[in-house]
Amino acid sequence: MTTKEKIISMLEENKGSYLSGEDIGIQLNISRAAVSKAIKELKNNGYTIDSVNRKGHCIPHKSNTLSLIEIKKNLKYNNDIILKDSVFSTNSEGKNYLVNNPEHGTVIIANEQTNGRGRKGRSFFSPKNTGIYMSIILKPKTLLLENSFKITIATAVAVSNAIDEICNKDTQIKWVNDIFLNNKKICGILTEAITDFESGSIENIVLGIGVNFNTLNFPEDLSHTAGSIFLEDITPINRNQLISKIINNLMDIIENLDDSEIIKIYRNKSFLIGRDIIYYEKNSPIQGIVVDIDDNGHLIVQDSNKIIKILKSGEVNFKW
Ligand code: BTN
Repeated sequence: MTTKEKIISMLEENKGSYLSGEDIGIQLNISRAAVSKAIKELKNNGYTIDSVNRKGHCIPHKSNTLSLIEIKKNLKYNNDIILKDSVFSTNSEGKNYLVNNPEHGTVIIANEQTNGRGRKGRSFFSPKNTGIYMSIILKPKTLLLENSFKITIATAVAVSNAIDEICNKDTQIKWVNDIFLNNKKICGILTEAITDFESGSIENIVLGIGVNFNTLNFPEDLSHTAGSIFLEDITPINRNQLISKIINNLMDIIENLDDSEIIKIYRNKSFLIGRDIIYYEKNSPIQGIVVDIDDNGHLIVQDSNKIIKILKSGEVNFKW
């Protein structure tokens, strides 16, 4: 562990209490000046540390700082967790990390992404301190490419349930796997699979999840469509608690991909059933109404001529 990591662990173990620079220095065998320098850098990195003359340094109880210790405390499984301050993209990090042959369930989490990626080559707005940007590496025992929709659907259910349970919200899923709250997108999921060409089976999956936790200011082009779980600076729960719950839910659901309950929950949480939408056929927009979602996760749409269409993939738009 680096000095900064050691200091953060000490402060987190004593969350809500002050530790003097002198005591920290003695325990780590470094000077008080070195402690002050490290604390200053940690603050610059986005950590919320309260420093008071003659009392010392403290991470307040309500702090929303990402913390390895706090995340691990609530994990059901022994996932390897890699926590970074700032990365281009946790999915890109995850894909690069595959050369190290990571364990199934390894998670890469960042406080900020400077090049967060969304589906269809779009970017994902990932400012520091207010979002959750994480990628989980999965190594399914046997999963054929044609069954990959199960992962997509299961992930949406796992994340949506985690938000509802931990944050006490009532989220919905917009086909295929965007999570909505109060008609705004609060979470996007990017699934990237590395397949074995010959067997057609999926060897590694990098599952990227981006959650707007309490992001309050979005760029103009997103301001009408993007939302956040919380709309306040001080939140009733912190990001670490939600991250642990998302990981636990995902690990559970991935083991049970054939459970027929998953599609039922997915359907019940659908944001689109009953809505007027626009979908695209050969790049031409077509109006329709969403009737249902079938057991394969396909969208059943009735077009304006009352003809039923089954959409297997792609994206649909609706009137905001
Ligand atoms: C979408 O809405 O189109 C998908 C967005 C996925 C964003 C997440 S954030 C963590 C991971 N790293 C990325 O670069 N993208 C995903």
